[in-house]
Amino acid sequence: MATWVITGANRGLGLEFAKQLLAAGHTIIAGVRRPEDMEFRHEHMIVHQLDVASTASVEAFAKNVRSSTDSIDVLVNNAGRMDGRWQSLEEVDPEISLDVLNVNTIGPLRLSKALWPLLQGAQQTKVANISSLMGSIEDCMSGRSYAYRTSKTGLNMITKILAVEGQHDNISVTSYHPGWAKTDMGGERAPVPVSVSVKGLIELIDEQTQERSGRFYEYTGDELPW
Ligand SMILES: NC(=O)c1ccc[n+]([C@@H]2O[C@H](COP(=O)([O-])OP(=O)(O)OC[C@H]3O[C@@H](n4cnc5c(N)ncnc54)[C@H](OP(=O)(O)O)[C@@H]3O)[C@@H](O)[C@H]2O)c1
Repeated sequence: MATWVITGANRGLGLEFAKQLLAAGHTIIAGVRRPEDMEFRHEHMIVHQLDVASTASVEAFAKNVRSSTDSIDVLVNNAGRMDGRWQSLEEVDPEISLDVLNVNTIGPLRLSKALWPLLQGAQQTKVANISSLMGSIEDCMSGRSYAYRTSKTGLNMITKILAVEGQHDNISVTSYHPGWAKTDMGGERAPVPVSVSVKGLIELIDEQTQERSGRFYEYTGDELPW
């Protein structure tokens, strides 16, 4: 059984990751902004405070993780935020955009940097970055959502750069699109149930190897264009 770190594990896809992995017998270290508000509890889940937008918070989180384990098997960079719905050029807010980039792009970089020593070792370990098809430059037909799209394109580049670094350290790093999933972010009209999205993602992460490192997959297993 493996030790998984999940960011944003208090609701949406992150909470579903925790529930499905705990049911399969894994250990979860959950990073959430307000641990005191977290209703779901489990004997094999440790919850620590984490704001991925803050370097000090990420460093404190990593210290807490180190106090409970000297190695982790999988880091899932799941925490993320939107910039409103399909913002046009007229609507885009540069200050909000900076926070979206901070959370969605630099957040996973902070976590990867802080937890990399716990991922290094003889065993093959993994970083799974929860990206979005909206970050695909090739797929950007409908435009809009400047900040969110750019933040996920940036995350995909972080995936690619970390994948190169990971070759020497036995760490694979892969980007995933969870589909349009029914969460607070996805909204009521989203066609993909959270359980289906996360089941597919877990199966793919289980199969994640160096051969799939530095690549981009949908929860269905289809490979996506950058
Ligand atoms: N749902 C979709 O259709 C869809 C599609 C493509 C990609 N994604 C990606 O999938 C991931 C999960 O999305 P979701 O649909 O589950 O969204 P969600 O229901 O809105 O949940 C977002 C999660 O991220 C956390 N979070 C936000 N900012 C944070 C920060 N600064 N520090 C720590 N945690 C933070 C939230 O915590 P709080 O409760 O504290 O706000 C919450 O746990 C995101 O990266 C998203 O971009 C989702």
